[in-house]
This record gives sequence, C-alpha cells and structure tokens, in this order.
Amino acid sequence: MRDDGPPHPPGEETRRSAHLPSLTTPLCRRLGVEVPVFQAPIGSAVSPELVAGVSHAGGLGMLALTWTPAGEIPRILDRVRELTERPFGANLVLDFPVADRLDACLEGGVPVISTFWGDPAGCTDRIRAAGAFHVHTVGSADEARHAADAGVDAVVAQGWEAGGHVRGLTATLPLVPAVVDAVSPLPVVAAGGIADGRGLAAALALGAQAGWMGTRFLAATEARTHDIYRAASSAHEPKKPSTPAASTAAGRTRRTGPCATAHWPPGKRPAPRSRPGRVRETSLPGEPTTPRTCATRTPYRWPA
Ligand SMILES: Cc1cc2nc3c(=O)[nH]c(=O)nc-3n(C[C@H](O)[C@H](O)[C@H](O)COP(=O)(O)O)c2cc1C
Repeated sequence: MRDDGPPHPPGEETRRSAHLPSLTTPLCRRLGVEVPVFQAPIGSAVSPELVAGVSHAGGLGMLALTWTPAGEIPRILDRVRELTERPFGANLVLDFPVADRLDACLEGGVPVISTFWGDPAGCTDRIRAAGAFHVHTVGSADEARHAADAGVDAVVAQGWEAGGHVRGLTATLPLVPAVVDAVSPLPVVAAGGIADGRGLAAALALGAQAGWMGTRFLAATEARTHDIYRAASSAHEPKKPSTPAASTAAGRTRRTGPCATAHWPPGKRPAPRSRPGRVRETSLPGEPTTPRTCATRTPYRWPA
C-alpha cells in the first residue's frame, strides 16, 4: 500500500516483486495472489481504491457490498478493474437480503466471494457454478465444520479480538488451530487482532494460510474512515476498553468497545430495542459516562 496517492496502475512495477523474497501459501497460489495479506471487508470504509491498492500490492482486496444497491455494483467492479488487473473479492453479510448483490457480483466475474453471519449453504452452489471461490467467516470450530459440510472453499476463523461484528466468543490464538484441526485440509484464514507482520507470522504458525485484517486497513489512505477513528485506530497503544471492536457507518464511527453482538443468543438476532448489550458504555476513564450504542451516529471523541 502506498500512503501518498492512488494505487499503482496496472503493469507498474511494485516494490515487493522487485526486491523481496515472497511469502506465499497454497491458498495464495490457488487464488493467484502473491502474499497472504487479505484485506478484510470493513463495511462502508471500503473503497474500490483500497481494494485495488491491496490487490495490486500482491494481497487480496475485498469489497464490502452488503448495503450497496445491486445496480451500483457493476460500476464499482469496473472502478477496481481500472486500477488493477489482479484478483479481488466481494463480501456479503447473509443476514441481509443480498441475493441480487450476489447475482451482480457473480455476473460481474468477481473471483472470490466472502460471506458472513448466516448459513453459507444457501449460496455455495451458485458461487461454485459461477466459478468463484467461496470463503465464509466463522467464530467456532462447530461453525467451521458446518461451513465445510456446506461446501465452502475456505473459512475465515474470526477471533473475539476482531473489529466490527464478531461472531464467536473465542480468541484468535486458540480459535485458529481449533478450526484448522476441524476442517483440514480446507484452507483457513485467521482474523482478529492481526495488524503487522508479527501477527501474520503468528497466524501462519497456527496453521492459517493468510491473515484477514480489518482494523489495520481502516488506517489506509484509501479507506473511507472518519478522521477521528482513523487517528485512534493508528495509535500505538490500544485505547481502553482494550477490545478494539468498532464499527462505522457512512464514514462515521458508531461504536467502540466490546462487541454487543457477543451477548446475543447463539444464532439469533434479537429485535433492535431488546438486544442484550445494546446500551454499552464506551466512554473512557475521565470522560462523561453517557452510554453510546451501535445506533449512535455522532463521531466518538477520544480524550487527547
Ligand atoms: C469497521 C468494520 C466494519 C466491518 N464490516 C464487515 C462487513 O461488512 N462484513 C464482514 O464480513 N466483516 C466485517 N467486519 C469484520 C472484518 O471483516 C474482520 O473480521 C475483522 O476486522 C478482523 O479483525 P481486525 O479488525 O482485528 O483485523 C468489519 C470490521 C470492521 C472493523
């Protein structure tokens, strides 16, 4: 990733290919990417420029299209392809009505489809028939087994440290090997708390074939991240509360702190006003203690 401008245009020499030995895995080779750095879908903070920048640098960029009208998807795919000829993916959260978005992605030839938060069994056949690769995010070994039985091509094991919506209650360190053991030889990608090469090396040592990094890419120049959240997510020391879960909407930070969805009954989505953990205190020591919720659309200000 460059910090000083748009992604490299197709064909331009990149630093990695010129000078660095390559770190690759069987999953990278299968997807046609050079390094096991997968940019996780980060909701509305994802831009075509971010996706193209990651893919063009040798990783795998991932659009987040759950809330994008299906009619806009061809234009977004065109924009990514203006910037890179390399593979990229698109993510859909299955708890929302995404059938038309999936059709648009598959008709547009997206090579990797990522799904989350729902049963992947309903779309594996369509994804396979279109010749795309299906990766599904899970939060437990049981869920990984179900996804494998449903026919996905790979799973993302998302630990509790992850930002955004968090599926399970297990931390990345114990979760990844448990999922690797549960679904071997299916490839596993590790998510949750990976932010640099050391974290990626740890994930690979646990048996993962790539790292799925979300919060780290919120700080990328190409991400549509609110400035306040960008600054906070780039801080060297994690802010309290220490779990870096957060979500954004339309570029505005909505929530920080432990993910409220961790308190939902397994497999259930309670009605909006009766969600356990809905009102969560996300203020910091010394701050006013007004609870802020997922619905708060005012940018949250960290103390200096
Ligand atoms: C702001 C934000 C938005 C997210 N939106 C999505 C999404 O739309 N779809 C999805 O599958 N995961 C989403 N996630 C979860 C990420 O894909 C990934 O699992 C997580 O960021 C990994 O943990 P990390 O943030 O510690 O790297 C989001 C994460 C963040 C931080």
